[in-house]
Amino acid sequence: MKQNSLVNLAIIMDGNGRWAKERGLSRSAGHEKGAETIRDITEYCSKHNTIKTLTLYAFSTENWKRPKLEVDFLMKLLEKYLEREFETYKKFDIKFETIGDLSKFSTKLQKKIENVKNETKNNQKLTQILALNYGSRDEIIRAVNKLIKQNIEITEKNISSALDTPYSDIDLLIRTSGEQRMSNFLLWQTIYSELFFTPTLWPDFTSQELDDIINEYYEIDRKFGGL
Ligand code: IPE
Ligand code: IPE
Ligand code: MG
Repeated sequence: MKQNSLVNLAIIMDGNGRWAKERGLSRSAGHEKGAETIRDITEYCSKHNTIKTLTLYAFSTENWKRPKLEVDFLMKLLEKYLEREFETYKKFDIKFETIGDLSKFSTKLQKKIENVKNETKNNQKLTQILALNYGSRDEIIRAVNKLIKQNIEITEKNISSALDTPYSDIDLLIRTSGEQRMSNFLLWQTIYSELFFTPTLWPDFTSQELDDIINEYYEIDRKFGGL
């Protein structure tokens, strides 16, 4: 049997809060540790032979419902993360992209995001895509409205290209922390994705576990509705 190829990988990074709670720490400490996991996983993906995009769910359109203190902390953490990871992007030849509606973020944060995108736009090895204020329904609605405004026909191909995502389909989707749901993530792009759920909380997730999941993924018989 031919081994599956893996080009587009997506991860729902869940369990930061529970990781912190287990240790008697604040939820913020869990988010901080989670941000470090991102570096390890991104480095692994940049060294992988075939992975071209890594999409990470960082903040959903529903996460604004959290207490203001937590939301504010996450915004600050994102800023710090971008400043700190700039070197990682350079070192490992990684292009930084985002999906989601950035217009809800402060202008300062939006500028920072734009700046990192600009500075990394010629990097080739991997594209790391952070999903920020991302919701799949919001993305599809914005895409369809774009097409209507330009008087473009509503077809599968046209919707796909009007979405935020620069790729077509996700090959492998992983969610950490034991929850088994999509939580409004990439619904259009995952119709034939292989789904893996691990009980590991995101701050404890390692490149070794990712490697094990990928090896399992390689063995799956993907049929896409055919035989
Ligand atoms: C995921 O961890 C990170 C974000 C949603 C920002 P959570 O904060 O959802 O952690 P749990 O699910 O409460 O453990
Ligand atoms: C999904 O996690 C969003 C991110 C990982 C950014 P949540 O913790 O917000 O999802 P639910 O509420 O458990 O479905
Ligand atoms: Mg959660």
